Amino acid sequence: MPLRVAIFGLGYVGCTAAGCLASQGHQVLGVDINADKVDAINAGCSPVFEPGLEERIEAGQKAGLIHAVTQLSEELATCDIALVCVGTPSGPDGAHDMGAIAAVTRSIAAAIEPARTRPLTLAYRSTMRPGSCEQLVWPIIESVLGARAGDLVELVYNPEFLREGSAIEDYFAPPKIVIGTLTGSHSAAMSALHDGIDAPIFQVGIKEAELTKFVDNSWHATKVAFANEIGRVCENLGISASTVHEIFVTDTKLNISPAYLRPGNAFGGSCLPKDVRALQYIAGDTGSHTHLVDALIRSNEAHKHHQFLRATVGLEQGAKILLVGLAFKPETDDLRESPAVDMARKLLDAGFALDIYDPQVDPASLVGQNLGYAHAFLPTIDDLLVDRKTVESGEYARIIATNRLIDTLDLNAANIVDVSAIA
Ligand SMILES: NC(=O)c1ccc[n+]([C@@H]2O[C@H](COP(=O)([O-])OP(=O)(O)OC[C@H]3O[C@@H](n4cnc5c(N)ncnc54)[C@H](O)[C@@H]3O)[C@@H](O)[C@H]2O)c1
Repeated sequence: MPLRVAIFGLGYVGCTAAGCLASQGHQVLGVDINADKVDAINAGCSPVFEPGLEERIEAGQKAGLIHAVTQLSEELATCDIALVCVGTPSGPDGAHDMGAIAAVTRSIAAAIEPARTRPLTLAYRSTMRPGSCEQLVWPIIESVLGARAGDLVELVYNPEFLREGSAIEDYFAPPKIVIGTLTGSHSAAMSALHDGIDAPIFQVGIKEAELTKFVDNSWHATKVAFANEIGRVCENLGISASTVHEIFVTDTKLNISPAYLRPGNAFGGSCLPKDVRALQYIAGDTGSHTHLVDALIRSNEAHKHHQFLRATVGLEQGAKILLVGLAFKPETDDLRESPAVDMARKLLDAGFALDIYDPQVDPASLVGQNLGYAHAFLPTIDDLLVDRKTVESGEYARIIATNRLIDTLDLNAANIVDVSAIA
């Protein structure tokens, strides 16, 4: 069923939505403070260049499905959905300048007809920091509409994943659809708007939806910076960067995959920290300036300390703690650079009474570097390790799980902090 959609902000995101929605038979009202953009749309032209967009805007305008205005008109009363696509450029301190969001929200709220019989679905597509909908947008709406705000407006955050240059293609084949609402509940209007678009749909809370673009864009930037750092190292070593790239991306098991991307434990073990440090050395030695790689160990150390603070929050000094899992992962006795060893060391330094349970770790059997590491970083390891019977009968103020070994024990779940996952 055709929808009536108002689009605020006729830049790359707004114009693409206007052309694509009109091509699906929806009625579009474009609103932009820039009169040149409005005139262009009303003349059937696209104010921005995107392959295939002008044809769609021209066809939509000729069919009477698109028109644009500089001032919000009474037509909003007949709209099912308002899409906000205004710009959120960088402010002087790096934060988004939210001026356009606040201004457009105020004008929309003021134009909402109090006699509406069904709520206007007000969906933000502009990228804005988590909390903006709840702390900026909704208070503006409530200040204008008062107690009736909830009846008159369904607030949605719906990030846009198009890329300039392939915006039309991306609009109809996005990597995913994310619809955030204040309650996390389903929005019928947004389902209708995405009808015919085949992509995984995430119906989530509004802050999770708001954060999505930050995570995606920062990840894409990380990938580019990492690829270029490795490219520089290759070039400086006379190695073929394209061959290295091909080998790297062909590994869809560990490299280009969800592996190593779940927030939880710091990295550790006998390989990752050692080889990252060695790559830093090679990069320094060849003048490759790998700032991203150089930041990895520091980021990891910061995470270990965050986990320590998280695991001990609210505890009194001297409290008794059980640490479950000391090796860097289950089913190994390898303690080298295990984040759990750092956790144990921090707990002891902070004056907590500590028991450690890890049935794979037997100090008497540790040899070589593993033994050296254990004794260097945890000299009292022999006294700290306890058996299962002690653990299950012990009284602990807190139990810290570093891996799934915790599932094999019969423990009071109420005081367990699982540092292997950030939910
Ligand atoms: N460009 C992209 O590829 C892309 C992709 C996904 C998300 N985004 C996000 O979408 C938002 C819009 O991006 P864009 O590239 O389309 O921006 P843009 O700068 O091209 O367009 C923004 C438009 O908003 C208009 N505007 C400003 N204040 C207004 C107001 N009060 N009322 C009506 N219109 C107003 C401006 O005149 C301009 O035409 C940004 O938050 C951006 O981060 C952009």
